[in-house]
Amino acid sequence: MPQTLLHATQISHHFDLELYRNVELKLESSRSAAILGRSGSGKSTLLHHFSTFLKPSQGRVILLDREIYTLKDAQIEKLRRYELGIIFQFHYLFKGMSAMENIEVATMLAGEEIDEALLEKLEISEVMGQKISELSGGQQQRVSIARVLSKKPKVIFADEPTGNLDKETANLVMDVLLDYIHINEAGLLLVTHDEEMAKRCDESYRLEEQRLERIV
Ligand SMILES: Nc1ncnc2c1ncn2[C@@H]1O[C@H](COP(=O)(O)OP(=O)(O)OP(=O)(O)O)[C@@H](O)[C@H]1O
Ligand SMILES: [Mg+2]
Repeated sequence: MPQTLLHATQISHHFDLELYRNVELKLESSRSAAILGRSGSGKSTLLHHFSTFLKPSQGRVILLDREIYTLKDAQIEKLRRYELGIIFQFHYLFKGMSAMENIEVATMLAGEEIDEALLEKLEISEVMGQKISELSGGQQQRVSIARVLSKKPKVIFADEPTGNLDKETANLVMDVLLDYIHINEAGLLLVTHDEEMAKRCDESYRLEEQRLERIV
């Protein structure tokens, strides 16, 4: 039985200007969805609403059966630590630590083990001993993806996870993310500018003229 992981209803938001209104989105287990849209249309902001980081001006976000903006800080903290995998547009790795140490911090906090096969699949096993500052942008991106998946999250929010990658590596990252959600009955919500990556997802949306439209 598929489980509804995320259900957002009637989401509207404005900073100075209105970004979007009446956004609806549902994500079920073992499913992937992509959000496309021009730079500045509000894709990252939407992802922040869905992933507990920013309360929308209006609307409700139900994540794993919890209405997140009514929860206490400690409950949000727990949700983030154990259930959510958030791959930010700009990766937040500890620069002075090695790739392996970065992954260890996340797995320890979540009470999980490091998955060596995952590092192999992402083609970063060889660089695990190196400091983050010595890695290429694309290697850092893959380390941050490995770090997130090592936590074994139920819902993955990924903001341009393949942004810095060549096509072959981008496809490899998509393979890893899609395999992960199928094996773990998790869900993936992806923001991307890359139509080809969006096509690999089960569903696609476009954020345009302040509306989120389902296109596939
Ligand atoms: N904290 C904030 N305070 C005020 N305005 C903000 C804030 N965060 C984002 N914005 C504005 O909201 C708009 C949408 O930003 P957002 O980062 O969501 O766009 P995006 O679709 O992710 O763009 P990109 O494709 O370039 O990443 C932008 O005009 C941005 O300047
Ligand atoms: Mg963005």
